[in-house]
Amino acid sequence: MSKVAVNLGALFDRFKVSRIFKRRELLLPDYVPSYLPHRDQQIYRLGLVLAPVLSGSRPSNVFIYGLTGTGKTAVTKYVLRELEKKAGSKVRYVYINCRHTDTSYRVIAELAQAVGQRVPFTGLSTSEVFRRFITGLERKQRFLLVVLDEIDYLVKKKGDDVLYFLTRINDQLSVSKVSIIGITNDLRFMDFLDARVRSSLGEEELVFPPYTSRELEDILKMRAEQAFHPGVLEEEVIPLCAAIAARQNGDCRLALDLLLKAADIAERLGEVKVRTEHVRMAQKEIEKNLAIDLIKSMPLHVKLVLAAILILHKKKVKVITTGGIYDQYTKLVQRIGVEPVTQRRVSDIINELDMLGVINAQVVSLGRYGRTKRIKLSVSESSIKEGLKEDLTLGDLWIELAS
Ligand SMILES: Nc1ncnc2c1ncn2[C@@H]1O[C@H](COP(=O)(O)OP(=O)(O)OP(=O)(O)O)[C@@H](O)[C@H]1O
Ligand SMILES: [Mg+2]
Repeated sequence: MSKVAVNLGALFDRFKVSRIFKRRELLLPDYVPSYLPHRDQQIYRLGLVLAPVLSGSRPSNVFIYGLTGTGKTAVTKYVLRELEKKAGSKVRYVYINCRHTDTSYRVIAELAQAVGQRVPFTGLSTSEVFRRFITGLERKQRFLLVVLDEIDYLVKKKGDDVLYFLTRINDQLSVSKVSIIGITNDLRFMDFLDARVRSSLGEEELVFPPYTSRELEDILKMRAEQAFHPGVLEEEVIPLCAAIAARQNGDCRLALDLLLKAADIAERLGEVKVRTEHVRMAQKEIEKNLAIDLIKSMPLHVKLVLAAILILHKKKVKVITTGGIYDQYTKLVQRIGVEPVTQRRVSDIINELDMLGVINAQVVSLGRYGRTKRIKLSVSESSIKEGLKEDLTLGDLWIELAS
C-alpha cells in the first residue's frame, strides 16, 4: 500500500472544467444531431414514404438496410421525431431495439404499454398481450409507426411470429393503423423470412451506402464544432479518423469513437491539443477491445486451439506448426476432460483464426518432408488472455495461461 494519499480533490478539479471538450456528450453514440450531412436522400425518401400519414392514410411499411454505422438509426429517429412534431396526437412512433427486446412477448408488451395497456413482465400468454395491444390501439384511434431496429435479432431468436402478427395486424383494426419500419445491417436477413412477411415488410426499401472518407470528414467536422473548444483539434486529426473508419466500411460510429477516445486520451495526459498520435493510441485501444470481444465469443475448441498457440508462444517455441499446436491442444483437452476434435478440424480452426486476423499462418516448405504452416500471434498476448479469461470451462488452465 502506498503511504501517499491520492489527491483526489486535485484530480477532480482538473477535470471539472475541460480544456478540450465544450460538450463531450454530443459525441456519444446515442446522441442524434439535428443535422445529418450526406443523408439528404435517405431523409427525403423516408419522409416521402411516411408523409401520407399526415393526411390520414397508412404509410407503406419500410425496410431499411445498410452496413453498420451508416446512419440508419440516426436518420430514422430524426425523421420520426420531425414527423411527430408535425402530426399532432394522431400519430405516434414506438422505437424498439430488437437486440435488447428480443422476444415476441417483450416486443408486443412494449407496444401494448405504448398504447396505455398494463402488461406484466412475464405471466400472460403472448396471444393475450397481442389482444391487449389491439384493444389499447383501437381505443387511442391513431396511426402507430413501429420501428423495429436490429430486426434480425428477432428472427435469430425465433421471435419472428411477432413479424407475422404485425404485418397482418391492420386486418384486425378498424379505427387505428400500424406501419412497420424494419432496420438491419444483416444484408442476408430478408432471405430468412417467410415470403409473405418479406413482401409485406419490403413494401418500400431504403439502402444506406457506406460513407466515404470525405463524407466522414464533413460529419466529424460538424459534430466536432459543437463538442470541442475552438482550436483543440490538430488539423490532421479529423482526416485521420475519417480515413481509418472509411477503410472499415465507412462506419461513422467508429469514426466518432476514434475522435472521442483520442480526445479522452489527450485529456487524461493533461494535454491541451488532440494530436494524430492520440488517434493512433485510440485506434490501438479500439482494436484491442474488438479482439477481446471476438475471442470471448469463440466456441470452446477454437478457444482451446488459441490457448495452445498462446502456450507455445509463451514457451518461446521457435517455429509453431500445425502439428505442434495439435499436440499441445490434445494435452489441454485431456486436462479439462473434454473430447478432442480431429486434427483436420484443428487445422480448419487455424485457418479460421488466420482469416479473423488473430494469428498469422504462413506456409513454409520443409524440403522433402513436405510443407507446414508457421504460425504467429497477430494480436497481443494480453488481449488473448483477457478474451479467454472469462471462460470457466477452461478452469485452472487459465491460471497457467495467465502466469
Ligand atoms: N450523417 C451523419 N451525421 C452525423 N452523425 C452521423 C451521421 N450518420 C451517422 N452518424 C452517427 O454515427 C453513429 C452511428 O450511426 P447509426 O447508429 O445511425 O448507425 P446504424 O446504421 O444504425 O448502425 P448499426 O447497423 O450498427 O446499428 C451515431 O452516433 C450517429 O449519430
Ligand atoms: Mg443502428
